[in-house]
Amino acid sequence: MEVVQGVQTRATNRQTDQSVDVSIPNRREFLYYIWGASIAMVVGEVIGATLWFAYPRFRAGEFGGVFKLDPTQVPERGGPPRGEPAIRIWMSHLEDDSVIALYNVCTHLGCLYKWVDTNNRFECPCHGSKFQKSGLYISGPAPRSLDRFVMTITFDDGTQVTTNETGDPIPLAEYQGRTIMDIALDTGRRILRPGKV
Ligand code: FES
Repeated sequence: MEVVQGVQTRATNRQTDQSVDVSIPNRREFLYYIWGASIAMVVGEVIGATLWFAYPRFRAGEFGGVFKLDPTQVPERGGPPRGEPAIRIWMSHLEDDSVIALYNVCTHLGCLYKWVDTNNRFECPCHGSKFQKSGLYISGPAPRSLDRFVMTITFDDGTQVTTNETGDPIPLAEYQGRTIMDIALDTGRRILRPGKV
C-alpha cells in the first residue's frame, strides 16, 4: 500500500513539473509578440502593394491593356471615323493627315456617343453634347473634350511615334514615304483633356 502511494506521489510530482514548463508570457513578452506581429503585417502589406503596382493588372488584349490594331483599321484620311466597340474607341484620321484614338464614352455622364455623318461630328444621344472628329468639344453639357488613348505607331523603317502627354493627334504627314506596320493602342493610358479644348 505504501509503494502505491510512493508511485502516486512521483506521478503527481511529474505532472507538477510538466505544468511548470508551460510558462505564460509576462506583460513585456506579450507586448513584444504584438509588436512583432504588427511589424510582420506592415511588411506583408508593403510587399503586397509593391507586387500589385509592379505587375500589370491587365493582359494584352484585355480592356485596360494593350491592343494591336491592323493598319487597315485606320480610316481613310478625311473620311468618317471608324468605331471599334470591342475596344471602346473611335479612330479618326483627320484632314491634316493626323490620327487619334478617342474613348467612345461621353465625358458628360458616360453615354456612348455616335458619329453623325450628315453633320460631320460626334453627337451624344443622351443630352446632346457634340464633338468634332478630333474629339474637341463643340457644344452641350459635356465638361471637356473627348478622352484619348495613347497609341504607338511603328513604321516599316522601325521608326516609332507615340501620342504625346496632352493626347494630340499623331501627325502622319511628318512620316511620309513610310508605311505603317503596327499600331499598339494602350487602353490603360487614357488622357483627359483639361476642359473644352
Ligand atoms: S452623357 Fe453625353 S451629353 Fe450627357
